[in-house]
Amino acid sequence: MKIGIVGAGHVGATAAHSLVMQGVGSEIVLVDRNRALADAQAMDVLHATPFSHPLRLRSGDYEALEGAAVVIIAAGVSQLAGESRLALLSRNVAVFADIVPLVLRHAGNAVIVVATNPLDIMTYAAARISGLPAERVLGTGTMLDTARFRALIAGRFAVSPSSVHAHVLGEHGDSEVLAWSAARVGGLPLHQLAAASGAPLDPATIADIEDGVRGAAQRIIAGKGATYYGIGAALARLTRAILHDEHAVLTVSSVVDDIEGVRDVALSLPCTVGANGIAMRLPVGLNAQETDALRSSARMIRQHIASLGY
Ligand code: LAC
Repeated sequence: MKIGIVGAGHVGATAAHSLVMQGVGSEIVLVDRNRALADAQAMDVLHATPFSHPLRLRSGDYEALEGAAVVIIAAGVSQLAGESRLALLSRNVAVFADIVPLVLRHAGNAVIVVATNPLDIMTYAAARISGLPAERVLGTGTMLDTARFRALIAGRFAVSPSSVHAHVLGEHGDSEVLAWSAARVGGLPLHQLAAASGAPLDPATIADIEDGVRGAAQRIIAGKGATYYGIGAALARLTRAILHDEHAVLTVSSVVDDIEGVRDVALSLPCTVGANGIAMRLPVGLNAQETDALRSSARMIRQHIASLGY
C-alpha cells in the first residue's frame, strides 16, 4: 500500500522513518516544493530499511502520489519558540489552498491525514478545500496530547502507558480538555487507583500533569526548535490503523456537524479509525466542567474557522 507524504521537513521525514521502523505500508513517496530536501530525506530514510522493513522510498512530484491509500499533509510553517500554533493560520491556509487540490487530483481515493498546525483549523480547511466526506479527512488532533497525558498518568502510578485509557479532547492547543473523569487504568477510575495504590491524585499532582501535557510542545521547541518524534510516531500509528482497517480508537480531529451546540467545527473526539478514515465517533462520558470546557474549545476553533470565511 502506497503512502504519500507532502512536506518533507522534520515531521514528514520522521513520519516516514516511523512508518519504515514499524513496517507500515509498502511504498512511501515524499513530495516537497524543495525537491532536493525530498530527495535527501527519501534517501536517508531508505537507508534505514535494511535494518527494519523493506519499504520502497522515493521522492517525486504530486503525480507520484497516484494510487496512494493515505496522503499525509505535513507541509507549512511550524511554530517558533514562544509562537502559538494559531499564529501559523494565515500562512498555512495559503499553503493548503495550493497543495490540497493537487493531492486530490493525483490521489483522489486517499484518506487525507493532516499534521499541519493549527491542526483543527487546517483539518477543517483541508476538508472544505477537498470537498471530501468529513470521515476521509483526519487530523492527528490530540493523539499526541493523549499520549502525553497517558504517559504522565502511567508514570504517576507506575503502570504501563498501554494500560492507561484516557483522552485529551477538543483543540490540539491551549483550550484542549484533559478528560480526567473518564480516565481509567485497568478499568479502574483514577481516584480509586490512587486510593488503592497509595499514590495520591491531589490537586498538585493534577496541576503537574496538566502542565506537563499543555506545556510539552513549547518546552521541546524551546530546547530543540521543533517537535517531530512524537508527532511522527502518531502519524505512523494513525496510518497503520487506516491501512490495516483496524477500527482502533484514536483521538483524531475531524469536521463534526455539532458538538455541545457548536456547529460545523473540527476538533478531536475518540473515533474508530479504519480503511475509509473515521468509522464512528464515540460519545465521551465527561463531567459538567469538562463538557463546558469542550464547548469552549469548540467555540474558539469555530471563531477561527469563521475568520477564514467558512
Ligand atoms: C506538538 C506539535 C505537533 O504538540 O503541535 O508537539
